[in-house]
Amino acid sequence: MPELLAFRAVDTYYGDLHVLKAVDYRIDAGEIVCLLGGNASGKSTTMKAIMGVVLPVRGEVLFEGQSLHGVSIAERVRRGIAPVLEARRLFPRMSVYENLEMGAYTRGRGPEFEEDLQRVFSLFPRVEERLKQLAGTLSGGEQQMVAIARALMARPKLLCMDEPSMGLSPVFVEQVFDIIQTINKQGTTIFMVEQNANMALQIAHRAYVLQTGEVVLSGPAAELRENEMIREAYLGEIKVA
Ligand SMILES: Nc1ncnc2c1ncn2[C@@H]1O[C@H](COP(=O)(O)OP(=O)(O)O)[C@@H](O)[C@H]1O
Ligand SMILES: [Mg+2]
Repeated sequence: MPELLAFRAVDTYYGDLHVLKAVDYRIDAGEIVCLLGGNASGKSTTMKAIMGVVLPVRGEVLFEGQSLHGVSIAERVRRGIAPVLEARRLFPRMSVYENLEMGAYTRGRGPEFEEDLQRVFSLFPRVEERLKQLAGTLSGGEQQMVAIARALMARPKLLCMDEPSMGLSPVFVEQVFDIIQTINKQGTTIFMVEQNANMALQIAHRAYVLQTGEVVLSGPAAELRENEMIREAYLGEIKVA
């Protein structure tokens, strides 16, 4: 499969704080790739570097083989990179429908708008039921669904998700993972940060593990599920001596 996104020796800083250290990632078209790592290891920073919210000081981020150096956030979205916003960053005083319209904004409201709406409704029947409701009055799980639906309205090639299951009840977590898999099967590449390593490694093709800003492990998800370090650190297994 062709390479869709790549990090080549990327270093990022917040002031003096060196966060990502010579990080390399490669995400191929069609994959679900999961990013695991402890608190403050640089997972969200990775997502920010893809969108251009954080810029590399050294190294570069490439999309479809082209450097994103100097490319604005809006232009990245136009080229096909879409972030799933945290649920609390939806527009709370706008209806669900209006939030979906905002998702399609970068493409303009062409004839595909209705088509995309129908696709989103088939993935999220509950979103269709709540179209007129103000986003801020939805439950956490429903807001997460709207956040994903909103990102899909931009018809992304690459969907970037920062902890899509965070704060959701187990039923919603399972639904979200099912939907991620369906979206992927429909052709969208997915790069996601997840704390829920167990679930994430079941749907991901490959994964990377970040530790204090460095990639310490990567490989097929099935292999990482068997890895001792992963099992202890992320799959909640306690080693019995
Ligand atoms: N805007 C910011 N300004 C300064 N430091 C930040 C900022 N955002 C994150 N950090 C710091 O960068 C490190 C990595 O953060 P982050 O990428 O959010 O970690 P993760 O998502 O893996 O928990 C942390 O130490 C965090 O405190
Ligand atoms: Mg984070």
